[in-house]
Amino acid sequence: MEQTETSVGKTYAYEIKGGVPLKGNIDISGSKNAALGVIAASIMVDGVCTLENVPDILDVHVMFDLLRSLGATVDAIDNHTYKIDPTTINTYKASGPLVSRIRASYYLMGALLGRCGKASIRLPGGCNFGQRPIDLHLKAFQLMGAKGARPSDINSGIVNLEADPLHGARIYLDIVSVGATINAMLAACKAQGQTEIINAAKEPHIVDVANFLNSMGARIKGAGTDIIKITGVPVLPGNFTYSIIPDQIEAGTYMIAAAVTDGDVTIHNLIPTHMEPLSAKMREMGYIIEEGDESIRVYRPDNSEEVYPTSVKTSPYPGFPTDLQPQTVVLLCSADGQSRMHENVWQNRFQYVPELAKMGANINVYERIAWVNGKTSFRGATVEATDLRAGAALVCAALEASGTTYIMNAQRIDRGYEHIVQKLTDLGATICRVNHTPEYGEEDTEA
Ligand code: EPZ
Repeated sequence: MEQTETSVGKTYAYEIKGGVPLKGNIDISGSKNAALGVIAASIMVDGVCTLENVPDILDVHVMFDLLRSLGATVDAIDNHTYKIDPTTINTYKASGPLVSRIRASYYLMGALLGRCGKASIRLPGGCNFGQRPIDLHLKAFQLMGAKGARPSDINSGIVNLEADPLHGARIYLDIVSVGATINAMLAACKAQGQTEIINAAKEPHIVDVANFLNSMGARIKGAGTDIIKITGVPVLPGNFTYSIIPDQIEAGTYMIAAAVTDGDVTIHNLIPTHMEPLSAKMREMGYIIEEGDESIRVYRPDNSEEVYPTSVKTSPYPGFPTDLQPQTVVLLCSADGQSRMHENVWQNRFQYVPELAKMGANINVYERIAWVNGKTSFRGATVEATDLRAGAALVCAALEASGTTYIMNAQRIDRGYEHIVQKLTDLGATICRVNHTPEYGEEDTEA
């Protein structure tokens, strides 16, 4: 089994020879965004917990290293199973370079505040597609009694929080925010009294983090709805094993890769209802989406039939996931005619479009709308993964393209896709990792 490069900081490229329809079966791994929340939530536990179906991806290894830097004990039982003992945590501070590598490091604020009553955390990193404020996270902590939670309190990029003690509060989130919802849930688990999170995010990974915490002894109700109610408890006994849900975004990416290559792929170990926003759109475009209990088969009855253009609008779950937006734009390039993609969650998430243009795409972006003029048959080129999902979109385009594509900074793709080279090879793709590209020479190792 291919090992993910866990030594963060290496840079490399993917070489993909396209034009081959993907065929066969693959399994989806555990959800990146659920695992990152659950691993952070394990800090709250007063015993040992075991996590199963953990994806073998770079961001998860960074989060485990962050827990170890706090003094927690994290032992790998196998590639996907970890035993965590947070009782050895001996600090509430996390400000080293690891914190800046991923966005999910902000969960340490809610978890350490909930566990220690204090947290001193550097502002997070993560994909750069416009402003990524944390004002709603800080608002939740402030309402629960934390000091240092005003934006003006942030000193040279470090957030210093203290609550003595944290108490329940009624928290209205001005914007539906995954991170703020999870962070507030973490802090509220052991706060004194009842907390209500109103206008909460409803993504599958929110429900997974709540289910994990409840399995450890928390009292959380309503996860997956607009209003989450948490009754604080003094202790989370833990001593429980929890299995992470399958990754909705990985599954959608492979559904799109199968479709753009005119392939026939069955994707296993997924939850079909989580895929509904994408499945519905793909059916509109003329693809057959066959749902099993835990699988989806994607194919087209007759590849000579046209692929219909459509309009897509991203929005919080159960809307169309923004994390499938770049990949779906590649799919829209396969349609005969003009389609539209409205990006309603992030300020600037079309930075990958110039890279697709190098491969022959005809896309015009006006503010938050991309007008996609199909039908495009991509051609191989040397392009760059500007972020995780942009990189995944370039992989989909490269798989369809005639000729060879080099995707630089491919390590960004491995942040969220487990063993993507192996999984695509198993479907008949020609893809390998290279340390240089014809135009750009030897890749420098990132500092
Ligand atoms: C999570 O990011 C995901 N990351 C993102 O996935 C995903 O795109 C996003 O949710 C939306 O689904 C992880 O789970 C680690 P938000 P997060 O808070 O929590 C605004 C991927 O590819 N906002 O739901 O940072 C924000 O600017 C990554 O896996 C505030 O204004 O997203 C955005 O416009 C990329 N103030 C909107 O809310 C705040 O305090 C949604 O952001 C927080 C957010």
